[in-house]
Amino acid sequence: MNKVKKVLVLTGGGDCPGLNAVIRGIAKRARKEKNWEVYGSIEAFNGVLNEPQQIIRLTSKKTAGIHVKGGTILKTTNKSNPLKFPLRQKNGTIKEVDRSDELVEKINALGFDAVINIGGDGSQKISKALHQKGLNIVGVPKTIDNDLSATEMTFGFQTAVQIATDSFDKLVTTAESHHRVMIMEVMGRDAGWIALHTAIAGGAEICLIPEIAYDVQKLVKRIDARYKAGKGFVNVVIAEGAKPKDGTIVARAGEQGSEHVRLGGVAFQLSKQLKDAGCTAEIRETVLGHIQRGGTPTAFDRVLASLFGVKAMELVIHGEFGKMVALKNNSITYVSLEEATREYNFVNKDSYLVKAAKGLGISFGD
Ligand code: F6P
Repeated sequence: MNKVKKVLVLTGGGDCPGLNAVIRGIAKRARKEKNWEVYGSIEAFNGVLNEPQQIIRLTSKKTAGIHVKGGTILKTTNKSNPLKFPLRQKNGTIKEVDRSDELVEKINALGFDAVINIGGDGSQKISKALHQKGLNIVGVPKTIDNDLSATEMTFGFQTAVQIATDSFDKLVTTAESHHRVMIMEVMGRDAGWIALHTAIAGGAEICLIPEIAYDVQKLVKRIDARYKAGKGFVNVVIAEGAKPKDGTIVARAGEQGSEHVRLGGVAFQLSKQLKDAGCTAEIRETVLGHIQRGGTPTAFDRVLASLFGVKAMELVIHGEFGKMVALKNNSITYVSLEEATREYNFVNKDSYLVKAAKGLGISFGD
């Protein structure tokens, strides 16, 4: 009998449909090996750093059937980067401290042979830093925003687009019935993927994305032309990171310990801009928010997440550390964590996707 080896799995950053399917994929693949035991750290690395530690064994009972569930059975946080860990001081202020050495020591002391970190860009930057400190780590990319350049798609994205499209379809009926301009705001941070795919799937007249700054006057013209043509309603999809020409995004300071500003509210900003620019149509705004990240993953995301989980465990078994699994040319492969974190994946305004959307009559306000 080979020596028993232990792998620690964690989910970091925002939750995302498909995380549980990855966890199950890892656990199922590991079980085929007989000598691998799979454990989960609760709430990203906090399960290791906190006292008492919170680490659970991922038995078949714990992972059975979880691939259909949204969220993560391991819980998550985007406020505990071990390299800049937010520690509350006695006077109530927060001080960021580097706890990465302590983390690596604790993981080693617990006897783990490898770690699988399921998370987005921030999490994979942490994976890279920990790998440089000698930790045997493998990354699995996740984000509904689809903004990681090293993989052709991330799981969660398709589910978010499906939810946004279903919501869009519901808003169309009100737009038609009331002759309104209905603005729907979707997530995506600095990338317009969710907005663009939803606009095409739903049949929007206007799609505003962070990669293409919009001209409010052009939008008013487009809306007027449609009303004059007798269509009598307009549906708009706007990404939370979209901004007007010479304008700024709508952002609030992130919560303490969080590295990101919080986006959201552009639908209301756009509504005001349109009215100020002379749009006389009745306008209503809908901000989809976390609905897009909730609930059960689509079949596509369950498949992609399951394949990522199996592949991540295979990398661990073969001792291929410092890598992130990825989808490339319709097959599951891997890239170095260096490559994984080098650049973001933004919508290219000269791409065929944008050209085709324009061909469908969608205005980007440019
Ligand atoms: O990155 C995923 C995402 O859902 C973004 O689209 C959104 O801007 C952000 O996370 C929201 O984060 P939080 O859940 O911390 O409010």
